[in-house]
Amino acid sequence: MGKVLELENVHKAYKLGFILKKKPVLKGVSFHVNEGEIFGYLGPNGAGKTTTIKCILNLIFPDSGRITIFGEDSLRPRARQKVGFLPENPYFYDYLTGREFLAFYADLLGIHGQLREEKIKYFLKLVGMERAADLQLRKYSRGMLQRIGLAQALLNDPALVILDEPMGGLDPIGRKEFRDIIVNLKKEGKTVFLSSHILQDIEMICDRVAIILAGEIINQGYLGDLISEKVLFTEVIIGGVPAAEFSHLGESVSTSGDRVLLKVFEEEKIDRVINLVQQNKGKIISLLPRTETLEDIFVNMVKNQ
Ligand SMILES: Nc1ncnc2c1ncn2[C@@H]1O[C@H](COP(=O)(O)OP(=O)(O)O)[C@@H](O)[C@H]1O
Ligand SMILES: [Mg+2]
Repeated sequence: MGKVLELENVHKAYKLGFILKKKPVLKGVSFHVNEGEIFGYLGPNGAGKTTTIKCILNLIFPDSGRITIFGEDSLRPRARQKVGFLPENPYFYDYLTGREFLAFYADLLGIHGQLREEKIKYFLKLVGMERAADLQLRKYSRGMLQRIGLAQALLNDPALVILDEPMGGLDPIGRKEFRDIIVNLKKEGKTVFLSSHILQDIEMICDRVAIILAGEIINQGYLGDLISEKVLFTEVIIGGVPAAEFSHLGESVSTSGDRVLLKVFEEEKIDRVINLVQQNKGKIISLLPRTETLEDIFVNMVKNQ
């Protein structure tokens, strides 16, 4: 499996005004992205995600370190020809329609005539924007703008697609639809790099992740390796039994209406809970083992910094 993108010890500091003081933002960032994977770049706001992406795309230059795209130094224009990019806050021409917006960018890429029309049609369909193609961008919702922005980022048939907080500002349905589109890009053989400060979005679709905190990569790897399968506790929801019946178990007991919610930390107590429910002629509404999530890991790491 080839490396599509590699960063080695990238440093970047921003100058603060006229004084010579510099603010370090990237402090030796290293990671790589493999061909064909969805790679998640995860970190809280201000961690340095957008700065990293700007360095990858040569919009700003690192102070030191090395970035290679498809094995070529990112400073060479050829390295970036196979890269598509959706910025965090894309600038859109309000009075263009979605179709005109794509036509404008296709022209810039030297895609004209019949080929241009075919491509626009194809990508409008891919991002689910055929029906809104002839509406002006100022009438689009945030989700529609993200979709049309993604279509633009795909016009040059990139092998690597870089998306900066693509799910930002989307409602839960919009997020789900956007996740599906990203998974489809992977199925088409593209490599996807996406940044996010929202753990769930990354957890659901990414193969590998790097976690950045205050300009440093604090962890990276396969999600399966970062998240243990260990059961933290089992959540049991019970109907028809008074909460007091479970209090002697010493586990977490709470109530919601006539339901009892139990968090059972000791596995051997699950059988006792089930027996108690049967003895009281109650009902187990659900029984769910809770394993560690990326969120748990993330919260622990931030706490231990
Ligand atoms: N052009 C700039 N000049 C000075 N500081 C900047 C500039 N751009 C970003 N920063 C600072 O760098 C840090 C990282 O920003 P950014 O890369 O945008 O983080 P993220 O995308 O993870 O939210 C922040 O503290 C931000 O204020
Ligand atoms: Mg950002």
